[in-house]
Formats: sequence, structure tokens, C-alpha cells
Amino acid sequence: MQGFVFHNPTKIVFGNGSSSQLSAHVTALGRKALLVYGQNSIKRSGLYDKIVSQLQEAGIAFVEHGGVKSNPSLTHAREGIAKARAEKVDFVIAVGGGSVIDEAKSIAAGTVAKDDVWRFYLGETKIEKALPLVTVLTLPATGSEMNGNAVITNDETNDKLGLASPYFYPQVSILDPLLTVTVPQRYTAASAVDIVSHLTESYFTNDGGWTPLQEYYVEGMVKTVMAAASRILQNPEDIEARSTLMWSATLGWNGLNVAGVGAFSMPCHALEHPISALYDIAHGAGLAIVTPAWLTAKAEEKAPKIARFAREIFAVQEENDRQAALAGIASLKNWYREIGAPLSFAEAGIAEPDIEELTRLTVKGAAIRKTPGLPEDFVRGVFLACM
Ligand code: NZQ
Ligand code: ZN
Repeated sequence: MQGFVFHNPTKIVFGNGSSSQLSAHVTALGRKALLVYGQNSIKRSGLYDKIVSQLQEAGIAFVEHGGVKSNPSLTHAREGIAKARAEKVDFVIAVGGGSVIDEAKSIAAGTVAKDDVWRFYLGETKIEKALPLVTVLTLPATGSEMNGNAVITNDETNDKLGLASPYFYPQVSILDPLLTVTVPQRYTAASAVDIVSHLTESYFTNDGGWTPLQEYYVEGMVKTVMAAASRILQNPEDIEARSTLMWSATLGWNGLNVAGVGAFSMPCHALEHPISALYDIAHGAGLAIVTPAWLTAKAEEKAPKIARFAREIFAVQEENDRQAALAGIASLKNWYREIGAPLSFAEAGIAEPDIEELTRLTVKGAAIRKTPGLPEDFVRGVFLACM
């Protein structure tokens, strides 16, 4: 095991109905908030009205910044920053999925920055402060509610980049499983794929030595996510399963699974971000397309680890590591198919993917984010295998 610093300052308020406690958690943060939300799901579900009446009762003024799109754009984040500055808000409330929370993080940091927010993502300058952020999560997947990461797409250049900063941790995140019953099947599948990917990317790439604690943590979580997703797809109102998926998403990408594993990388995320940037598909759907292709390309080099995954998760009996790894990849694809995730560009509705542009964007993003193991020919080969 390797040394590490684990510091996660986000307070979690978890439970059915917990979203009615929002005002109690924001009154200490100031008198005026920027309320960030997505397209229409919170208005459709009635959550918007409940949030607004809580803020009004608590005497908290707010300015709205709705319309965040899935795969949030830099232009919309900049509009939110301008609004937050003009209205002199004290803090930010994000109500939605990972896209809403990520854009809210960019706004929280961008509002009090001297530089344009995109310079942070390019690594040209560092975040030194941010407005406090409180989130009400409506779609469990990214872990953004309890991590210091945000991802945004520059809609002028199609660069979709992630950034980690200690100033990106929300102060409080409210996790109310009841809010997730309206998440449609397509997004439940994408979320499950994403959560599994957050857990397994470090598992396949880390160099931490003997780390059984982290390996069993990942394997136990992956089995749990698969079981919960399956129950939700059979019965969307299964609150036990919705609760389990919600907490799994948070625990799957809040730093715990990687504490002690040393250096690791997120190559499938680096390959996926250009796909959702160019074609605006769900991030988890993009991961289902690229992950089997990346694993297949690595089946020789990483045979023992992929074989372990195959044996632990899918009960593959094969003794030869390479054969077991290939059987594990086939089983992973079967699981994607079972939950309705796409297995190729074509299945995701991308009839003619621009392989050269995807390759260029991946190599560029990997250089900025310092993601190793993604030379141009390798990347092109992975994308070609996704056809
Ligand atoms: O916009 P609305 O109308 O709210 O609809 C959303 C959106 O269309 C809908 N939705 C959300 N909650 C719902 C609901 N529909 C019905 N009932 C509800 N309760 O679901 C759609 C998808 O939402 P979105 O927030 O885009 O999904 P997700 O949480 O998967 O976030 C995806 C974004 O996060 C980034 C991805 O790249 C992508 O941009 N990621 C962020 C990470 C992080 N910050 O740590 C890590 C991830 O690896 C990921 O890259
Ligand atoms: Zn992800």
C-alpha cells in the first residue's frame, strides 16, 4: 500500500425526504444564493417548487441559473458567473445531476476569480478560492456531490476537460433517494456504467502493490452496483435499490477507493470525454462503448488483473489469465447489453464517428490532464474497435 492524504470535507445528509432539510443547511452561508439547475426535470417532479418555498420561508433571496445541459458548456457556465457577480450572491445551490453540480462548481470558483474560468481547466492557473456550494443530488452517477472534481465542455473548441481542486468540494450535499425514482432507464444504465468505471479504472491501472482492501472494496461495490441497477430496471420504484445506487455512486468516486493504491489513471474517461463532447451522448453510454475496446487492447499486458476481475465479478472459471480476461470482457459487454447500454458508436446513434477528430481531442486532453498510456496510434485503434 502507498502513502496518501485523505481529506474529504463534504457533509452528507442522506435519507428519504432529506431534501426538505435544505434551508437548515444554507442559512449560515449568507442571504443570497445562485440557484443552479438543469433543463426541466426538477420542475416536472415538483422539486423546484419545494426548494423555492424552503428558501422563501428561510428568508434567503436567490437568483436563478437554470438550463444547464447534460455535458455542461463553458458558455453557460460563464453566463452563470456573470450573473453571480452582478447579483453579488453569497453562495451557490446546485439541484440536479453531475452536470448541474459540475457547472455550479465552475461558477463558484469562476465568480471570485481574477482569470477566466477556462484557464483553470487548461492548467494555466490555479483556483485559490470559491463561493460555498451546497448540492441537492437528483441523479446518482458521477460522485461530484462529494468530490473535488468538475468536468466542462468548451463549446467553441469541443475540448471536454476535467479538473480537480480542493475548492470544488461541496460544503453539504443532500442525498434524497426519493428524488431519483423519476430517473429514466436509459440514465440508470448510464449511471451504473459510470459508477463501475470510476471504481475499475484505478483498479486496472494502479501500481500500489498488495492492496487487497482496495481490491475487495472495488469488487464489492461493483457487485452491489450491478445488483442495484438490475433491481431498479425491474422496478423503478424500488427505493432500497435506489438508495443503494445513490450511496454507491458517492462512495465510488469520493477518493476512498483510490486511497493507498498509488499512481493510477483514467484512460477510458479520457477516451470518452471527446465522444460526449462531440456527439452529446450520456457520459456513461460513451464509457460502455470505449471500455471493452480499451480492455481488449490491454488484455495481454493486464491479463492477471482483468482475469481477477473476471473471476471475482463474473465467476469466470478459466485458469489461463489471458483467456479469463477475454471471458471477463465478454461478460462485461453482456452486462452492458442487459441493462441497455450501447456497445458501439452505431448503437449509440453515432452513424459516422469522426475518428480523427476524436483521436486529436483525446490526445490533446490526455496531454493537458497528464493521462499516460494514450499515444495517438493506440487511441485511434481503440476508437476503430468501437465501430
Ligand atoms: O437537465 P434535467 O432536466 O435536470 O435532466 C437531466 C439530464 O437530462 C436528467 N435528470 C437528472 N435528474 C433526474 C433526471 N431526470 C429525471 N429524474 C431525475 N431525478 O438526467 C439527465 C442527465 O443528467 P446529468 O447531470 O447530465 O448526468 P450525470 O450525473 O451522469 O452527469 C454527467 C456529467 O458529469 C461529468 C460527465 O462527463 C458529464 O458531463 N462527470 C463528472 C464527474 C465528476 N464531477 O467527478 C466524473 C464523471 O466521470 C463525469 O465525467
Ligand atoms: Zn465518469
